[in-house]
Amino acid sequence: MTAQPAVSPQQAHEHHTRRHPTVPISQPTIVTIDGPAGTGKSTVARLLAERLGLDFLDTGAMYRAAAFIVLDRGLDPADHDEIVEIVADADLHFDWTTDPPQVLAWLQPMNDRIRSREVTRLVSAVAAIAALRRHMVRKQRIIAHQHPRLVTEGRDQGSVVFPDAAVKFYLDADANVRAERRAEQLRAAGKPVDAAVILEELRRRDEIDSTRTEGPLVVPEHAVVLDTSELSVEQVIDQLESLVRSRLEKP
Ligand code: DC
Repeated sequence: MTAQPAVSPQQAHEHHTRRHPTVPISQPTIVTIDGPAGTGKSTVARLLAERLGLDFLDTGAMYRAAAFIVLDRGLDPADHDEIVEIVADADLHFDWTTDPPQVLAWLQPMNDRIRSREVTRLVSAVAAIAALRRHMVRKQRIIAHQHPRLVTEGRDQGSVVFPDAAVKFYLDADANVRAERRAEQLRAAGKPVDAAVILEELRRRDEIDSTRTEGPLVVPEHAVVLDTSELSVEQVIDQLESLVRSRLEKP
């Protein structure tokens, strides 16, 4: 006999909805989450969006798709004009029928190709190209126009792209903790891990992301800063959720 799940998907959905009613608002609501790699930002943003009944935008996936295109087409990383032209031609956008939404280039889903080691190594340099950032910012604002109830995460969402967002967060964590989280993800995926190399690469990305001239990683004005070093994902989401609710549910 096949074992039955203790809770059916329908019951789980009802439980989830009862425990976490969506934010009772109809007006556009943008929540931004910025911060360096390894703070749990993506997971937190996706689950927070789910709890609040908002859409979720992973802007890092757009820069990763651009870096993938540079590698795949053998483009010269120094030829900024060509990179911007070809990435614009790819018409990056998301398939909102998948969870989480998948980034598409030339209508093709990018899938895990944008998470490879090679892409991760190159992406900060590609994301530092000023003209490419301006292109992405325009696209992200169009996406927000089409999905006006949004949790969006990245490095410049509260500082540059949506400075008037309803609630802005900045997640941070100790670099060693962030590197260890990344190492743990790789171990779980059965991949070889060199903790010292991971920490070194993470620091290098932080450095490039924070010192570029266009849209550097900064704490946005009026952002709520949360250090996640000692917190579980669930604890972070709980804090963010109650903060968003207290801000938005005020009469
Ligand atoms: O969050 P992530 O690791 O997927 O981001 C990949 C890279 O993209 C990261 O090195 C910084 C860059 N990025 C950015 O510059 N601006 C954003 N809004 C999102 C990501």
